[in-house]
Amino acid sequence: MELATELKGQTIQNQVREVGINPNHWYPVAWAEQLKAGQILPVTVWQQAIAVYRTAAGQAFALENACPHKGIELHKGEVMGNCIACPYHGWEFDQDGQCVNIPYFPKTQMLPRAAARSYPTQEKYGILWVFPGDAALASQHSLPQVPEFDHPDWVLVPITGKFNAHFSICNENTMDVFHGYLHKNLQGWFDPALLSLKETAASVQADYRVRYKGKLSKFLGLATPNDGVTTRIVSIDYHYPHYHSTLEGVSSLYLMRLPVGPKETRSFSLLFLQIRLPKWLLKPFRSFLVPLIRRFLFMPFLEQDVEMMESEQQNYQVNPQRRYVEVNPAIIALQRLIVRQFVQQSSLSESFSESVSQNLSEQGSYKEATTVAEAKVEQTPENSMR
Ligand code: FES
Ligand SMILES: [Fe+2]
Repeated sequence: MELATELKGQTIQNQVREVGINPNHWYPVAWAEQLKAGQILPVTVWQQAIAVYRTAAGQAFALENACPHKGIELHKGEVMGNCIACPYHGWEFDQDGQCVNIPYFPKTQMLPRAAARSYPTQEKYGILWVFPGDAALASQHSLPQVPEFDHPDWVLVPITGKFNAHFSICNENTMDVFHGYLHKNLQGWFDPALLSLKETAASVQADYRVRYKGKLSKFLGLATPNDGVTTRIVSIDYHYPHYHSTLEGVSSLYLMRLPVGPKETRSFSLLFLQIRLPKWLLKPFRSFLVPLIRRFLFMPFLEQDVEMMESEQQNYQVNPQRRYVEVNPAIIALQRLIVRQFVQQSSLSESFSESVSQNLSEQGSYKEATTVAEAKVEQTPENSMR
């Protein structure tokens, strides 16, 4: 549904800073190359500790990072065939989490029922993905489409982001093109305007007009011969829980989000650029160019953003009751989506809901968050679509 693009003041409901994730989506946990054959990596998806491991044959699997015997972290163990062997007593757990061997048990004796939770896992776009929700739903959900990944015209710059902030703060940062002001010394974009805004049950899409001039504009091939000012459209598609933006065929940025916990978020970003070099020259220079682009083009922007996001999180924590004011309807729509996804899955999965309820009530906010979340969902224009 189309939403109004008019900028006007609205009070932010801070409960969006407390909600958990909808676990019934695929989340990135590591770059595929970080996990070599025979290795185990500890990762966390919204407070769930997971051990991701790769067999000698190259397959990746994920088990909860706690041995069913005594709770030892399984990532401290070793990969044996398709199993992880726990370092303490050597119990072995296969890719489904079933205990298949206890080294000091008589061979004829039945093994006790002991299983670690296993998670659906896949590898795509150079990223390892885990489905932390109801495993039966994993096949119904697909990964984001990244058509640029296999296209030779695009140069891929992978970037890892780590933010000490709730995932709502991180997503608002990237949805909010009005913060070009922050990047003025980097000659980022200026004179932004929100042109269109759409909301569906699982996404918020916004088109912004932006203007460029200066060094960055030249590098991206945007400069015009007259006053050097180029006007372009940035199209943003936040499809829960991941983000994609394009600058009219010049660049394409995917932020695959990993909410680690209420105060920590990571992202595995795929930045695609069209570099104006002949293909024969681009090929040998690609490995040389990519770290340079990351360091000198992208990181200065990211570092400025990180400082803002972490400052926002810190002040939120100092006084969670304080109300802030927003004027961008795209941010309000994004917040509605984040809250709605959390509330929907809570009602779908009772057991998960209970665990989240427990987590949040420990923070003293679940009841209030749910009430406000439900109230916000009632006001949502596309309620009828659900
Ligand atoms: S704690 Fe893992 S085998 Fe004993
Ligand atoms: Fe930024």
